[in-house]
Amino acid sequence: MLELASELGQKAAAALAAHLGSPPDFPVELTVVRAGKPEFGDLQISGCLQLAKQHQRPPRELAERVASALRGHAALTKVEVAGPGFVNLHLANGWLAAHLAKRAEDPKLGLRPIGQGQRLVIDFSSPNVAKPMHIGHLRSTIIGDALQRTLRALGYEVIADNHLGDWGTQFGKLIVAYRRWLDAAAYAADPVAELLRLYVKFGEEEEQQRGEHGRASPGEAEEETGPAPPILEEARRELVKLQAGDPENRALWQKFIADSRHVFAAVYERLGVRFDHWLGESAYHAMLPRVVEDLTGRGIAVESRGAKVVFLEEEKLPPFIVQKSDGGYNYATTDIATLAVRTGVPPWAYMPAGPFDAQRVLVVTDERQQLHFKQLFAVGRRLGITASLEHVWFGLMRMAEGTIKTREGNVIHLAELLDEAERRATRAAGEHNPDLGEAERKEIGRVVGLGAVKYNDLSKDRQTLVTFSWDKALSLDGNTAPYLQYAYARICSILRKADPSPSRAAIELTLPTERDLALRLLAFPEAVEQVGRSARPHLLCDYLFELATTFSNFYASAPVLKAETAPLRASRLALTALVARTLREGLGLLGIEVLDRM
Ligand code: ARG
Repeated sequence: MLELASELGQKAAAALAAHLGSPPDFPVELTVVRAGKPEFGDLQISGCLQLAKQHQRPPRELAERVASALRGHAALTKVEVAGPGFVNLHLANGWLAAHLAKRAEDPKLGLRPIGQGQRLVIDFSSPNVAKPMHIGHLRSTIIGDALQRTLRALGYEVIADNHLGDWGTQFGKLIVAYRRWLDAAAYAADPVAELLRLYVKFGEEEEQQRGEHGRASPGEAEEETGPAPPILEEARRELVKLQAGDPENRALWQKFIADSRHVFAAVYERLGVRFDHWLGESAYHAMLPRVVEDLTGRGIAVESRGAKVVFLEEEKLPPFIVQKSDGGYNYATTDIATLAVRTGVPPWAYMPAGPFDAQRVLVVTDERQQLHFKQLFAVGRRLGITASLEHVWFGLMRMAEGTIKTREGNVIHLAELLDEAERRATRAAGEHNPDLGEAERKEIGRVVGLGAVKYNDLSKDRQTLVTFSWDKALSLDGNTAPYLQYAYARICSILRKADPSPSRAAIELTLPTERDLALRLLAFPEAVEQVGRSARPHLLCDYLFELATTFSNFYASAPVLKAETAPLRASRLALTALVARTLREGLGLLGIEVLDRM
């Protein structure tokens, strides 16, 4: 349908251009969209309204031109001008049937390789070692993974990079806390949880010492509140030692990273998430002096009150500090180095891997980092980066009351959340179908539980606030993974009953619900391309949900196994099989599994 839409759109534009005497800067293609209501046909062109205004002609006159240029096209049965100047297009059943037959033969289900020849880096998940891994990181993991799968399917060469937060001031604190308060058994059981406990404990101790040493008025920066608590001084010394390569501190730092990676990897394994690289912040550490030198040498950064700063007045953004007045580098410096490596612009000497020469870079984080990435990308432009730089941000997720035990803030134990999801889905599977054996119930619970958690993150526009509740995520009604997974299994069971079903069939579109289903099926590539372009996975969720509901309307009105004639039965079975494949592929692009029997 995409090809048809652009063919019709180009024809329409050419006819208008000729009519108006080939005006300069005339669009080469008018947009053809899905019609909003059945009485408007299947497709619609609305561009005549605006063009009429620009060229001071009556809109219906232009619409008539377009209509007469498109009438007689083999794919169309009717072309009408409607309202103030819309052109409504009705697709021919023969055309729909022929395209469905082609779709059924296509292993790619009509997906076009729009990303072919383009390299793309996607940075997602990227948790911090020994700092809270919060539910935001889970969202980033799930959204990022759905995007990497979708982008790969669209032909991009995707490099998935887990930009671990494995460098920074927290390590001085951790080293001190580890030596003082380590609970070895707790560390052995869950190093991430124990490191977090140590980190929190350090903060409490620091607070207490600050109290003892007299507290300055609130709101003042740490540096200006008089002498730092002794424990903080100690942490700074350990950090300096670590940075200077002290073997003992380095060994501890490496241990923290290795053990944390192990815990993260187990979560990824369970979620089916893969990365090509784990280039954490520390991978760029050696580059940082060069980055700042380069920025100052090129006049991009300047000295300001002892710090090195990029002023971004042109972009109406606050200044970006690339080196602090104490000489230290920060998140900004690391990210400039990272961006340079990803896009292959200097200074990428000492690069850990790459340069990747990517044409598109996506970074998936929560909304709180919007300003940082605006600043970073503005600096990127000044460095001469021409790649598309996209901050794929998402709103924070709230856990509804009583959802799961949370530690401070929104910190949860991810494995516990996933366990709970599987437990609940396993129980529901047993209630749904008491005949299931233990192993089957468990497997359904795993697939549905993980699917529910993922889909809950993916199905809402990522820029809205999401509240997580078990009832909503696991509901069998509405736009949820369990609904889609059960719909898929039901379709599989219909197909099993038809066995042996004809492998190839001519499609007959006799009922309106049949035709609706045909139109929805053909729209799959459109939905996937939209996700690839806008990095918004919910568009694919919306599509799949609509496909499933359209199927259920079809199934309620059109007998499949008991169709009136054998050719009609074969045609309906072919449509049904295509729905199953499209649901499975589509959910697969979102990182969600399906089962044939549930
Ligand atoms: N580690 C960061 C955090 O947890 C996310 C990193 C995102 N990627 C980047 N290149 N800055 O907030």
